[in-house]
Amino acid sequence: MKESYITTAIPYVNGKPHLGHAMDYLLADTLRRYMMYCGKKVRLQAGTDEHGNKIFKKATEQGIPTQEFVNQNATKFQDFIHSLGVEYTDFIRTTNPDHERRCQAIWAKLSNHIYKDKYEGWYCEGCEGYVTDKEYEDNHGECPDHKKPYIKLSEENYYLRISDFKNRIRDAIESDELKITPTFRKKEFLNLLKDMPDVSISRPKEQVQWGIPVPGDENQVMYVWIDALSNYITVLGYPDEDISIDWPAHTQIVGKDILRFHAGIWPAMLLGLKLPLARNLLAHGFITVNGEKMSKSIGNVIDPQEILDKHGLAPFRYYFLRHASTTDDSDFTWDKYEAAYNELANDLGNLVQRLAALCKKNSIAGQKVEKRPNHDFDSRMEKYEFNFAFDILWDGISELNKRIDAEKPWALAKTDPDKAKEVLVKLVADLLAINDRLSIFLPDISAKIAEIFTAKEIQPPVTPLFPKN
Ligand code: MSP
Repeated sequence: MKESYITTAIPYVNGKPHLGHAMDYLLADTLRRYMMYCGKKVRLQAGTDEHGNKIFKKATEQGIPTQEFVNQNATKFQDFIHSLGVEYTDFIRTTNPDHERRCQAIWAKLSNHIYKDKYEGWYCEGCEGYVTDKEYEDNHGECPDHKKPYIKLSEENYYLRISDFKNRIRDAIESDELKITPTFRKKEFLNLLKDMPDVSISRPKEQVQWGIPVPGDENQVMYVWIDALSNYITVLGYPDEDISIDWPAHTQIVGKDILRFHAGIWPAMLLGLKLPLARNLLAHGFITVNGEKMSKSIGNVIDPQEILDKHGLAPFRYYFLRHASTTDDSDFTWDKYEAAYNELANDLGNLVQRLAALCKKNSIAGQKVEKRPNHDFDSRMEKYEFNFAFDILWDGISELNKRIDAEKPWALAKTDPDKAKEVLVKLVADLLAINDRLSIFLPDISAKIAEIFTAKEIQPPVTPLFPKN
């Protein structure tokens, strides 16, 4: 069977994971679990982007050898991903010698589309990127993200001739051969593509030391994005191995800020390598805190561990998969987080507790899970509207709560015990059917619910699923 391959952006390891990093992983994990639910075999990559000046400078500031610094941080990212209940099949680190060697082979294969040229213009050290004269003027000479003045550069670099592939990329995106979700980002990118210049893909060694050497030129180091984008195929073994079982990827998941690299430079690289383009590119929005962009200078950066420590994993996944949009920006506040926790406790926690207690009282045995089609759910998932798909399950849960209240099996038990049993058996079957799909979003809670209602004797959990503090 052809595997379905899902990829996530590989974060820079110049610090520990922050809340924004969680989105890539949660969405990828949700898609993976959904595809597995549909019977597919899925491969999910994750990894760390470990080259570039920012990382080199951070390590130097801390007085730690750079390799040691990235080793420490890569471990923090792996632990973080696991703490989100996310299961990847492959983890790639860009300082891995196999990756480095494979990147050099990729460079050599692209040589027909690479040329050397002089760059004279503006540069942002924080972004590690060139800045057009227009951007320079619009931002009054200072990077809005890094609050640092742009510097003037004059240097010789290698360039990738994006112009060789522009038409082909535009056609692929317009026709949805490479489908960008959401559509407004697709439109935004197609506009950007029109004026996209050839990209500089190397840096002089005096400027950047911590990177992969350009093959055949000891004075140049690969631009970090060339090295980073290659991860999606080097992790599969390219070019040493045949990657056609996994590539093209089913879906590549990225944040909105890096869509242009994945929809522009990366397709150009793939076309240069004569590899097919990915089938889907999902650009998610940003997580803000109290309506503001998270930033160290504002001092509103939230450590995801703090949120996880508050009520455990399920509420974290619940909040960011149901109350955060898959494609738009979404806000986190502690108040909203507490409200979401109460929803979990009141809607789902109480339902499980009540129903299990009634089953126990009426000696209702557990049941097998019945697989039921749910076309509305599938259609939302297939459109990457995960939060709306989750809403469909929640509507089902609310419906069950209403049915218990309306049908009053506790009263029926006194007047018509057979009818009470019938009502309870049906409620359990319906809950199990919803719970089966709940495993896509809340795997640990769903497993507990399945255990309770498929057991020989149904027993309410000793401690509630979502205890009130
Ligand atoms: N190293 C590059 C990616 C290379 S992929 C070949 C990078 N790293 S990053 O650490 O800055 O970002 C990693 C991911 O986290 C990106 O998908 C980015 O969009 C996402 N996010 C960073 N901050 C975010 C929020 N505040 N909210 C949601 N996602 C955000 O870019």
